[in-house]
Amino acid sequence: MSDAACLEVQGITKRFGGLIANEDVSFTVNQGEILSIIGPNGAGKSTLFNCITGFYRPNAGRIFFRGKDITQYSAHKICKLGVARTFQVVQVISDMTVLENVMTGTYLRTYNRRDVREKAEEILRFTGLYEKRDTLGPDLTIADKKRLEVSMALGTQPTLLMLDEAMAGLTPVELREMMALIRKIRENGVTLIIVEHVMEAVMELSDRVVVINSGRKIVEGVPAEIVRNPEVIQAYLGDRYHA
Ligand SMILES: Nc1ncnc2c1ncn2[C@@H]1O[C@H](COP(=O)(O)OP(=O)(O)OP(=O)(O)O)[C@@H](O)[C@H]1O
Ligand SMILES: [Mg+2]
Repeated sequence: MSDAACLEVQGITKRFGGLIANEDVSFTVNQGEILSIIGPNGAGKSTLFNCITGFYRPNAGRIFFRGKDITQYSAHKICKLGVARTFQVVQVISDMTVLENVMTGTYLRTYNRRDVREKAEEILRFTGLYEKRDTLGPDLTIADKKRLEVSMALGTQPTLLMLDEAMAGLTPVELREMMALIRKIRENGVTLIIVEHVMEAVMELSDRVVVINSGRKIVEGVPAEIVRNPEVIQAYLGDRYHA
């Protein structure tokens, strides 16, 4: 694999009984890039995230993170290596404050409570949630919950951050804010994989796009190529986006 590869996914297949959620999916994510994964509902995008992050064990294929074969690693071990992710269904812990939620992530790196707290506060300043650090999870708006999820993932201090629909359900203003945050994360040297249906964000943020349909990768390329690809338009884009 090349020196620039952050993640290499080779021939991943994941079955649930007779259902093939991922079939022989391969792609590479370069260091420092933003790669988007798009495709219809049920295409297998979240399953792929779960395979990469050790929440599911693929039936076939291999996953390399910075040259290391992590296919058999536990979710915890993969996170410790520097891969963090958010969940499509927000996983904020409801009886904890914003700050405490982020601290659950920062404990991965240190057990010193003061260091953990300082790191979590630094992250909240970075993500713009510091003013709300004492708010309880359920009292947040959707946009702030999404921001908190990103903050919790950043708490583990990843070099690869994977966002599963971090921009769903946001107003246009909130969407711009989330896009700005994602750019800022990348500027800090973090590589990103984003699964997203909000095409405006995919088009503006992505260096490259991988398109999944019925579990299989149908094409990959730069955004401008992807939106003109007849197969992608037929399988997914339709009236969703016009180049
Ligand atoms: N734990 C599971 N057990 C059984 N089937 C599953 C499981 N997780 C996902 N699937 C199935 O695998 C297929 C892919 O689902 P997945 O959630 O990966 O799609 P997705 O691309 O993320 O869709 P969406 O855009 O709606 O989030 C679907 O048919 C889904 O029902
Ligand atoms: Mg999904």
